[in-house]
Formats: sequence, C-alpha cells, structure tokens
Amino acid sequence: MRGGYGSATLALKRDPLNITQSGSEFPLILGRDVSGVVMECGLDVKYFRERDEVWAAIPPWKQGSLAEFVVLNANEISHKPKSMSHAEAASIPYVATTAWSALVNTGGLSKDNCANKRVLILGGSGGVGTFAIQLLKAWGAHVTVTCSHNAEQFVKGLGADHVVDYTAGPVEEPLSLLEKFDLVLDNIGGDTERWALGLLKPWTGAKYVTLVTPFLLNTDRLGIADGMMQTAATVATKIIKHLVKGVHYRWGFFAPSGPALDEISEMVDAGQIRAVVEETFSFSQVPQAFEKVEKGHARGKTVVEISQGGS
Ligand SMILES: NC(=O)c1ccc[n+]([C@@H]2O[C@H](COP(=O)([O-])OP(=O)(O)OC[C@H]3O[C@@H](n4cnc5c(N)ncnc54)[C@H](OP(=O)(O)O)[C@@H]3O)[C@@H](O)[C@H]2O)c1
Repeated sequence: MRGGYGSATLALKRDPLNITQSGSEFPLILGRDVSGVVMECGLDVKYFRERDEVWAAIPPWKQGSLAEFVVLNANEISHKPKSMSHAEAASIPYVATTAWSALVNTGGLSKDNCANKRVLILGGSGGVGTFAIQLLKAWGAHVTVTCSHNAEQFVKGLGADHVVDYTAGPVEEPLSLLEKFDLVLDNIGGDTERWALGLLKPWTGAKYVTLVTPFLLNTDRLGIADGMMQTAATVATKIIKHLVKGVHYRWGFFAPSGPALDEISEMVDAGQIRAVVEETFSFSQVPQAFEKVEKGHARGKTVVEISQGGS
C-alpha cells in the first residue's frame, strides 16, 4: 500500500462517488491490526463499552492502526483474548481473519469437519501460515507445510505434522509422493498454480484456495472496469479448467469479522493458538519496521507498539 498497491480499487471503496477527488486519502495511515481500549462508542453500540479491551483487523480501505486512535464498526472488532498482552494480540487479527476467510468461508472447513482432513499450506512460516497451522491443528486436521529449511523446526513447533523444504529443489516432486490433500492453502502463488491442483483428491470436493490473486494489480493497471472484466475472465477460466479435472479452484480474500475474532479469542484463551511475534518496534521505529517487513523471510509477525497501554 505504501507503494500504491491496490490504490484504484481502495480509492473507489473509500470514496465511491469521488466527491473528495482522488488524493484526498493522504496522509494515508497504514497498519492493519489493532489491539487497544475503546475510548468512545456510538449510541447504538450494545456489545462494547468504553474501556473494553478489544482487537480488530482494519479493512485496507480504512485509515490504519499506526495512530493513537482508530475508528471502526462494532461488527469489525472483538474483545481481545484476556491471556495476551496488547502487543501479542496485535500480531493476530489480520492474518487470522485472512486465514479464516480462506479456510472457512472459501475452503468450507470448520471445527466440526476438519478431523482427518489433509491440508497443505504452501508458505507456512509467514504471518498467515503460522496462524493457519495452529487453527487447523486445533481443529484436528493433518497439516503439511512448505517452508525454507531453516524454518522447519519453527513450523513443527506450531504443530505442523509434515514439513517440506522448498529450497532443496522443485518442491512439487516430494509433495507429489505424499497422499493427496483435501485442501491446499496457497500463500505463495505464481508457479505454484501449475502443479498444486494436481495434489488434491479429485472428485471429492477438494479445494485449492490461493491468497495471491491479480485482482488489485489488474484494477491498478487497467482501471476499475477493464480490470474487473479481466479478473472475472481469468478466474472463470481457471475455475472451469480445474472443475473438469474434478477439483475446485478458488481465490481467498481478507474479510473483516468481529465474530470470527470472537471465536479465535476463545481459542487463544484456551491455549490452542499463540502469538508468533518475530520482532517488536516502537512507534518512532516505524520506518525500520517497514524495512524489516519488506525484506521478506518473515517468521511470524512484526508488531509496532504505539503506547505502553495498546498496540
Ligand atoms: N488475498 C488477500 O486478501 C490477502 C491478505 C493477506 C495476505 N495475502 C497474501 O498472502 C501471502 C502470505 O501473506 P503473509 O502475510 O503470510 O506473508 P509473509 O508474512 O511475508 O510470509 C511469507 C512467507 O513465505 C515464505 N516463502 C517465501 N517463498 C516461499 C516458497 N516458494 N515456498 C514456501 N515458503 C516461501 C517466506 O519465508 P522464506 O522466504 O524465508 O522462505 C515467509 O515466511 C502474501 O502473498 C500476501 O500478499 C493476501
């Protein structure tokens, strides 16, 4: 977003009638996660009160959390897990609601149907991957993960049953020797689409869900109308191409959800999910935090502490 990614679609969402003219979103406040304290509630807000400790994932079309105050709808926030500090809690909402949207809303998984399901996570060591491993293990799935050699113990420590090192050679070769999967969650994209759908159990409802889609890039590049047409044509072609082979091809997207965070909060307090904070920065170190994130090779999440009370 700092480099303009998604600006065409997000500007439209912020200001559908272009009343304030493009450019009015600046200064744009970044930061998609928040854990803090409610300062004020709207008159019709019933579920939250002033001074409640809450956490949320902020939609990318809203001003972000690298600020003292954030304005959110009541259905986007949730009571923060009691067992976590604000800094720990702030590492979870965005990747959690993204993984939840991909696995539950798009992938059709739930705590009631995961037992004995085989799930492959491409890219298990980053923010989404580290959360997805823990959620799926808590729900009883068998989880295979790809990651770098030096992240193997790290993802096993989060519960991964089987780990494949993608740096040791073409990763599709060892993966193709394994029993087939009920769901593939793709955090990597690109080349993976060429082989990942062949790892699914055909004609069983098995799904490939990728979080790496060209949707925002298309609208940035072609404008809203042509970008959306291009996107619709691309996804429809891929869905049909794979459907005739007996597997389902889907795109996953972040979706803000207080109710999903309520369930995740309970899982955290029950000890089923923990925070994976790689590094914490102070507010004055925000530039260094962004430089660190941009280098890639994440092992969990990077957190910024705005104040000692909330993150
Ligand atoms: N569609 C949506 O709404 C949505 C929302 C959130 C995120 N996303 C996308 O989802 C993806 C994951 O996000 P994230 O926040 O989890 O990213 P992240 O925290 O940056 O993690 C990416 C991880 O993948 C590892 N990796 C890189 N290349 C790999 C490969 N070929 N095979 C296996 N692992 C590899 C990296 O470690 P090493 O390089 O050290 O191996 C790193 O740990 C990103 O592409 C992001 O843009 C989409």
